[in-house]
Amino acid sequence: MSEYIDFAVIGGTGLTAIEGLEIIHKEVVHTPYGEPSGQITHGRIGQHRIAFLARHGYTHTIPPHQINYRANMWALKSIGVEKVVAIAAVGGITAPMRPQALVIPHQLIDYTYGRKHTYFDEGLEKVTHIDFSNPYCEDLRQALLVAGKHLGILDGATYGVTQGPRLETAAEIQRMERDGCDVVGMTAMPEAALARELGLCYASCNVVANWAAGKGEQAVITMDEIQANLSQGMAQVRILLRSLVC
Ligand code: HPA
Repeated sequence: MSEYIDFAVIGGTGLTAIEGLEIIHKEVVHTPYGEPSGQITHGRIGQHRIAFLARHGYTHTIPPHQINYRANMWALKSIGVEKVVAIAAVGGITAPMRPQALVIPHQLIDYTYGRKHTYFDEGLEKVTHIDFSNPYCEDLRQALLVAGKHLGILDGATYGVTQGPRLETAAEIQRMERDGCDVVGMTAMPEAALARELGLCYASCNVVANWAAGKGEQAVITMDEIQANLSQGMAQVRILLRSLVC
């Protein structure tokens, strides 16, 4: 019988490894939906047994629209994971969502298209609709908020998920703000919905990497700016993960 895994971490841009993770072994998992983004790293932080998967691959080569989300979530479920903490870089739209802020989102709006977004697709005995009123697992959200209290982590944001890989136009961001989005990113969907379909408890920590298009003082968003903010923000995420008990 394999050891109980406290939680899995899906690392996004800027987090392809967890510092301080004592690696036990790496596992190649094949799924009926194809290959996940990479091997699953099994490890320990202090008392916690953790599984880690780099969403964009360990060398950061898989763009958001090419990620095999179904294989990733299936792979985690198949090794016995019950809780998933998804780390993701986002752009900030509303005022509190400043670069380098950490936020635990509570809602989603999906603007993606053409992604393989469900397991309830073909060969069904019965058409199935999951409840997705509240897309994130509230218990895990609260655990993240407690763990991040001393870091000034923000509670609640509506995450608008765009197709990428390009960033948005300023007009698209204005529309998203009117829709009620606080942050914008490219990976929360279909990841969150697939987690729900598999009965996984899924919550996310977003790291604000830049002001979204048209929101900052600069006319353009540069990769240098994104990298600089992410390296600060991800240092905070590592502290958060060390103090997470769930
Ligand atoms: N838009 C979409 N995704 C992102 C952004 C952004 O501005 N920044 C980091 N991920």
